[in-house]
Amino acid sequence: MEPVKVAIIYYSATGTVHALARAAADGAEKSGARVRLRRVAELAPPEAIEARPEWARHLRDTADVTEASTGDLAWADAVLFGTPTRFGNLASQLKAFIDSTGPLWYQGQLADKVYSAFTASNTAHGGQESTILALGNVFYHWGGVIVPPGYTDPVQFQTGNPYGTSHVAGDGPPGDVVLEAARYQARRVVDTAAALKAGRAA
Ligand SMILES: Cc1cc2nc3c(=O)[nH]c(=O)nc-3n(C[C@H](O)[C@H](O)[C@H](O)COP(=O)(O)O)c2cc1C
Repeated sequence: MEPVKVAIIYYSATGTVHALARAAADGAEKSGARVRLRRVAELAPPEAIEARPEWARHLRDTADVTEASTGDLAWADAVLFGTPTRFGNLASQLKAFIDSTGPLWYQGQLADKVYSAFTASNTAHGGQESTILALGNVFYHWGGVIVPPGYTDPVQFQTGNPYGTSHVAGDGPPGDVVLEAARYQARRVVDTAAALKAGRAA
């Protein structure tokens, strides 16, 4: 059977979600998947970005990451979406990308794929679950197969977010445990997508 194709599509202003996305890509690759790591387009005005040096720096540092296109969604068997929390919701940059998928959705090309999500917030109760659940609303509309990590691996009892990997950016950059949780989440997505792919091919 062909390897599972996984797209990891994320937005990150200051690098936290980017680090989670890279760990997820690593986990998916080590599970034998073909992986596309893609950042969505930055839409904020240059003056807003330049006003925060860490934002401007991260944008420069990730200039070589390929920008996401709807073709990546059509290509993938499974998609992991990553976004920072914005007032308990997803970032507008990722939402704008999602809002460009109408034609694919209409053609039924987003249905039956595996979807999962991860996030970061500045504070521990700053809206991680609500952000992941907001992405879940989109997956329902697409007719996706939502694969959350739950408590299906020991690492989940350490990070404690069954909805999806999440990090409190206010505590510093993601450490080993949360990066391992991101790798695990991606492995679970790949394994589920592989089982579906094999079942559909049989
Ligand atoms: C407009 C805006 C709204 C935000 N809303 C929240 C929030 O509701 N809760 C929270 O804990 N952090 C909030 N944050 C902080 C971001 O979630 C945090 O900086 C982000 O997770 C860091 O991820 P990144 O480094 O990948 O950009 C907000 C930041 C901005 C700019």
